[in-house]
Amino acid sequence: KPSPLNGSHLSSDIHSNGLNSQQHFIPSLSGASTPASTASPGPVSAEVYFASHVAPKSLHENAEKIRSFVDRHMHEGRRVVLVTSGGTTVPLETQTVRFIDNFSAGTRGATSAEFFLEEGYAVIFMHRQFSLQPFSRHYSHSRNCFLEFMEADDEGIHVMPAYVDKMRTVLAEYRATQKAGTLLTLDFVTINDYLFLLREAAQIISKMDVNAMYYLAAAVSDFFIPADKMSEHKIQSGDGLLNLSMDQVPKILKPLVNDWTPKAFIVSFKLETDEALLPLKSRQALKRYGHQIVIGNILTTRKRVVKMITMDSESEIRLTAEEEEVQHIEIESRIVPELIKRHSEWIEDCGKHGRCG
Ligand code: PMT
Repeated sequence: KPSPLNGSHLSSDIHSNGLNSQQHFIPSLSGASTPASTASPGPVSAEVYFASHVAPKSLHENAEKIRSFVDRHMHEGRRVVLVTSGGTTVPLETQTVRFIDNFSAGTRGATSAEFFLEEGYAVIFMHRQFSLQPFSRHYSHSRNCFLEFMEADDEGIHVMPAYVDKMRTVLAEYRATQKAGTLLTLDFVTINDYLFLLREAAQIISKMDVNAMYYLAAAVSDFFIPADKMSEHKIQSGDGLLNLSMDQVPKILKPLVNDWTPKAFIVSFKLETDEALLPLKSRQALKRYGHQIVIGNILTTRKRVVKMITMDSESEIRLTAEEEEVQHIEIESRIVPELIKRHSEWIEDCGKHGRCG
């Protein structure tokens, strides 16, 4: 009979919100093919993590892309922002059949990337594979199928008149971005892909001495199964209940801020469901990691209210119902210019003092 190692039970479909730090799956002692993970008391350090996990195959190629992208835009005098977007997955098997995911569609990241591009930034858009992307986001998830924007007649296939104006604008922006080469998209799927790619990008950008902005909107898994404890093959269902024990993902904001890219302007996000916790948790993050700003958002209101929290200030950006529902203003159109202003001040300050922060 299966017996849980510890913690709570997992429902059989293994679909879960990777953001919820209460989430703790435990499962499976039954059968030789199940993961034999044991819970560790706290997160391993980033150093230990990287030493005990294998880098994704695409890392080298992506590193080259980042290097030449940043080099080009640095010489052309553009500012660089690295936007992370969408959710990371946590595989349960090495030959992955099942994985844990979270709700993020990448709306925040993809929308923000567009506004950074509009403001002249060169954008490294590090996103979950198949999540929303700048420009195509207007069409990819808003209807069942892109064909719903089209109609056919004897002369050919056209965009339906109701969508033409907006599509003309989006298309023009998309083409202008392609021409300028200001958008580099890199994808990740698993938490492991994400961690290696973020570290690589940060170290490359830092070596090039660029005061980049990091806009960490991705929903990053809090728990994972370490490679050496993962089942190689598909976990068998015939063995009864599945209990998982997962380790904590290392807190990589600390090495990001202190070691990998000390001159960067780092914006992290904090997602909560309880409004009362948000300022406290955001300040805790600032204290713990020493970065510049936390943007706090509540799951249900994240598209119309955010809080911008620094060590010595707190402000709110809030859309009115009219702005949101009638004018269709996106809150990222307010967040991004505010951050750009602060990024400018940060760069100016770095220049004055010869050091940042
Ligand atoms: O994609 P959408 O549907 O638009 O949703 C957007 C969002 C709600 C996901 C986004 O606005 C948001 O809040 N993202 C952060 C989610 C979160 O709570 O992350 P966290 O508390 O686990 O992590 C804090 C910060 O550190 C985040 O910026 C995260 O990207 C970063 N982080 C966390 C852990 C880790 N190992 N690496 C990280 O970079």
